[in-house]
Amino acid sequence: MLSGEIRMSGRPLVYLDSAASALKPDCVIQAITDLYARDYANIHRGLYDLSQNLTTRFEAVRGRVLRFLGADPDLYQTVFTKNATEAMNLIAQSWGAENLKEGDEILLTQMEHHSSSVPWQLLAERIGFTIKWIPVDDDGDLDLAAMESLLSRRVKYLGVTHISNVLGTVNPVGEIVRRARAVYPEIVIGVDGAQGAVHSVQPLEQFSPDFYTITGHKLYGPNGIGALIGRRDRLAAMPPFLGGGDMIETVSVQGVRVQPPPQRFEAGTPPIAEVIALEAALDFLDEIGMDTIARAEDALREDALARIDARPWLRLTGRAAHKTGILALNIEGVHHADAAMILNKCGVAVRAGHHCCMPLMARFGMEGTLRASIGLYNTEQDLDCLFEALDKAREILA
Ligand SMILES: Cc1ncc(COP(=O)(O)O)c(C=O)c1O
Repeated sequence: MLSGEIRMSGRPLVYLDSAASALKPDCVIQAITDLYARDYANIHRGLYDLSQNLTTRFEAVRGRVLRFLGADPDLYQTVFTKNATEAMNLIAQSWGAENLKEGDEILLTQMEHHSSSVPWQLLAERIGFTIKWIPVDDDGDLDLAAMESLLSRRVKYLGVTHISNVLGTVNPVGEIVRRARAVYPEIVIGVDGAQGAVHSVQPLEQFSPDFYTITGHKLYGPNGIGALIGRRDRLAAMPPFLGGGDMIETVSVQGVRVQPPPQRFEAGTPPIAEVIALEAALDFLDEIGMDTIARAEDALREDALARIDARPWLRLTGRAAHKTGILALNIEGVHHADAAMILNKCGVAVRAGHHCCMPLMARFGMEGTLRASIGLYNTEQDLDCLFEALDKAREILA
């Protein structure tokens, strides 16, 4: 893992941008190096040991992902994608385009990341179904009473983020799934787990969505790998998303017969090293223990909240009772981008902007925020540096 050895603006790096992408542990970097140095071949096609051994390893990671998320392999399957965004587009382009029609409705939350709203917005323009938005209250919680009033048998899909990448809110996905299915048992529910898989230890079995999407690079794994975890019966009824090699059973000039899932949705040479390194990342997380990680991050978040409250000029957006260490901040009278530049000079890496959540920014009447996000390597000293840098930004800019 990097951190202390890396310098930014001449100072030891304080990395508080794990919600954007997490730094990589040595075991993940080593897994990629070892694979290319010793074990590499293309998979699925080779009739030689190297290829077949790697195919076996690659295929086993599907089950590893399910185990990590607490998903029953009899009910769920793992489809590899390049990230959570692609997984979400797969749901929209395959399930959505096949099943939605004019007059239908879908529900999304006001706190969705663009990756779980834009694919539906683009599809709605094409097909003509209606999107309704579940509102967010002033604390950053979803308004479940409003959700209930929007539910009806016309609502065919509900998309909700497990954890907001801006507010840090951990949404009560079990409750949401229960209430939605009580109104319409056939409703399809997709949960964006890009942040949820990193922080939440709630097994999928407890809320049983139809779809759950993850992205490897936020899970301390490599870039270029994500997954759609889908209920087997849903996936089996869905048409392909992309066409090409690997996803077909037979091709003739008369037509194409496609593979069953998950291969049906994985056209072309897959991200082989990335899948193997994702496994290393999940092993790493399980070895430390998701509970242990959550406890350490919770302690830092509580400390950070106390420091924020001691600074009346520092506004925190997102005060849900159930919240992770994602802190959306604004210094009174200071543009977030200017503040981020001062933080950079202090060696502190945070995100500044709309965080791919423009509808949520509009809800709170903001153009953007600074976002400090806590990862498993952060310490009290990192918070000292963050708050010293925020004090300095205010001193210079306010
Ligand atoms: C809540 C949430 N959903 C989806 C995504 C998209 O992830 P990716 O860009 O890896 O596809 C992100 C990334 O910031 C996110 O925070």
